[in-house]
Order: sequence, then structure tokens, then C-alpha cells
Amino acid sequence: MASEPDVPTTAADLRRQLAAGLETDGWLRSPEWRAAVEAVPRHRFIPRFYRESQAPGVTTWEPVTPETVGKEDWLRLVYSDETWMTQFDGRDIDWADPKPISNAVPTSSSTLPSLVIRMLEDLDVHAGMNVLEIGTGTGYSTALMCHRLGSEAVTSIETDEGVARRAREALARSGYLPDLVVGDGRAGHLDGAPYDRLIATCGFRNIPPAWLEQVRPGGVILTTLRGWMRSLGLIKLIVTGDSASGWFSEDEPSFMIARQQDAPESLGMVPGPDEGTKRKAEYGPKVLTSSGSGFMAQLAAPDARFFSMPVDGGPVSTFVLDGVTDSFAVLAPTDSGWEVRQGGRRRLWDAVESAVATWEEHGSPSTAAFGMTASRDAQVIWLGSPNGPQWPLPSS
Ligand SMILES: C[S@@+](CC[C@H](N)C(=O)[O-])C[C@H]1O[C@@H](n2cnc3c(N)ncnc32)[C@H](O)[C@@H]1O
Repeated sequence: MASEPDVPTTAADLRRQLAAGLETDGWLRSPEWRAAVEAVPRHRFIPRFYRESQAPGVTTWEPVTPETVGKEDWLRLVYSDETWMTQFDGRDIDWADPKPISNAVPTSSSTLPSLVIRMLEDLDVHAGMNVLEIGTGTGYSTALMCHRLGSEAVTSIETDEGVARRAREALARSGYLPDLVVGDGRAGHLDGAPYDRLIATCGFRNIPPAWLEQVRPGGVILTTLRGWMRSLGLIKLIVTGDSASGWFSEDEPSFMIARQQDAPESLGMVPGPDEGTKRKAEYGPKVLTSSGSGFMAQLAAPDARFFSMPVDGGPVSTFVLDGVTDSFAVLAPTDSGWEVRQGGRRRLWDAVESAVATWEEHGSPSTAAFGMTASRDAQVIWLGSPNGPQWPLPSS
């Protein structure tokens, strides 16, 4: 029988390998963050987790612990560049007898190390700065910041009590004692303000006004934005007085949406076959799922969601439903393209087509061509410059 690995020694080796890989791939760019990756024991933060099963069919997650896969494989997985799930549907896992999980939505995880590190590098922190983190999760990213800046410089907010308790224990066992707050990160944490930097590792539908008040002028807010159809990607805002503005990154990283902003369970009323007014559609439903046009559709219809299904045994139609404005657009194939039927307070497909056309007129740019300005009263995403075409973000 192969001998059991010595956990501290093996983990230290694997951390060095992880850091080297992140550096080779260009995510890790500074010696300070490299030292943090090499020092923080990720295995203390994810002693048990779930990974997606390779089996075909419905998405299923299987437990990974030293007992289920053996210590060596567990450590190898812990220190690989992967996101590992630690909670589903807001419910704690019975680790005394963990079972495979399916038909569930992940609600907490330890994020992909390359994404964590890339965001920490983008955050542009320096010794002496203080940071507010939203979404403590397992506490791994919190620990990296504590290592780099000192525990007294780090405040982290987690909305889930059980998740927060486990993070607190893992942090303390690893020698880190940041200010940990249980609550809704949208309110920030006034006691520790003003902050030099704010980083969110869950996605938000807009920039919470409290963040604008609690980050000092000149400070940075780094967060992903997302809607109910898709992620809008990562935005880095510089705070100036009571507003903030900045640009999206080139790629579109995605985080789980803040719990309080998740889409309502019901999709809303599906329109009857005679409801709404019909016209020829300029674009078919593919614009919803293609990368650049999907971003535009999310901007144009921020409260909408969509699904496709065959109607009356006929061809597949795509239903775009907005329960906030009680509006719908139904796209059905015709011999020569697509027809759209719209109804309700907003002409959803008119808005989507207009946004996609604007994007095409500007040369179909990546998300790096977009930025946003956020103030207490208004939040808009713009194309090219603050004076370019604009789309408002939802206010809640
Ligand atoms: C992707 S995980 C965070 C990963 C974490 N930074 C790490 O390294 O392990 C996102 C976390 O955000 C938390 N969360 C969701 N909504 C929140 C909110 N409104 N305020 C604070 N935390 C929230 C979730 O409970 C979850 O634990």
C-alpha cells in the first residue's frame, strides 16, 4: 500500500507548483501575491468540497474529502486551479455522510485561484491600505489579503451565517484574524470605512450606493456585475467624491449572483398565442446566447429571462419574459427568418435589437470598450466614453 503523504510538506510543494503555474499563465504578476499563494494553506479552507461529476446526464456534484478520494488526490485537487463548491441552495452539507448532489444551485465556493489572484493583482493594493471584501465564502481569498496586508487591514462580509462561521474558524486556525461581518454586503460596513479598496467575489446587479460612500475618493471598487440572463463581467471603478466610474475587462468572468438579488423563482406569465403584436425580427434568438450580442441583450432587457420550447408540437419558440415590467417577446422561426410577437409595458425585442445594432455599428467591440458611471441616483453602462450610447442598470 502506498504511504500516506505528509500533509504540510506535500501542501507546501503543491502551493509552490500552483504559484508557478499562475505566474506562467500571467495571472500572478507580483512577488507579494506570489508569497501569499505560497503561504496560505488552501486545504484548511476547503477540507471537504464538491466537484462536478463527469457522468453524462443531469449535472451532478460528488463529494471530495480525504476519505472519499484519498489524501493525495484530495490535496492535488485542492491546489489545482479550479473552483470547488462548498454549499448548494443555501443549505449546509451533512459531512458526516456526504451524498452526490444534483438539481441544485451552488451558493458558496472557493473561487478559481487564477481568478482570485488576477482580481487581487487588478485591485492594485499597497502596504498600509485597508480592504473591504464582499463574499467571504471559504475565507481563502480573505486569507491571501490578510497575508499581504495584515489582518487588521481586512474586513470581509459574508451573508450566510454557517459559511461565515466556517471561514472564521479556518482563518483563525491559519493565524488570520480579520474583521468578519455577517450581513448583506450591499450595506458595506461603516465601522471600518473609509476603505482604500473594495473587492466583491459575488456578482451584483448594480453598484450598491453604500459602497460609493464607504470607499474613499481615489479608491477602487472591483466587482463583477451580472443580470438574470448572464454575467456582464468584471468592472474596475475609481471613486471620485460621491460617484465612481471605470471600464470593464476584456474577458467576462462570472461569479454567483448576490443572494438578495437572485432572479425570482417564477418566470412570470407565459403569454397566450394571440397576445401581442407581431413583426418580422431583424435578429433571431441566437443574439441572446452569443457572447457580444448577449451582453447587449442583458443591458437592453435587464429584468428579463428567456427559455425555448416547442409550441403546440410545432417549431421551437424562444420566450423572453420580464416579470418586472410585465412584458414579453416571443420569437418564432419563419420560412425566411424570425418573427417576434411583443406585448406588455416594454417592447423588449425592440430594445434588444436596437442595442445589438448599436454595438454592431461600433464594430462589435469586446466588453473592454464599455465602462460605467455609478452615482447614488443613476447607474449607466456606456460604450466608448461616458458621452457614448448608454444603458441604465436596474436600481435594485
Ligand atoms: C464565490 S463565493 C466567495 C469565494 C471566496 N472569496 C473564496 O475565496 O472562497 C461567493 C460568496 O458570496 C456570498 N454572498 C452572496 N451574496 C452576498 C451578499 N449580499 N453579501 C455578502 N456575501 C454574499 C455567498 O454566500 C458566497 O459564500
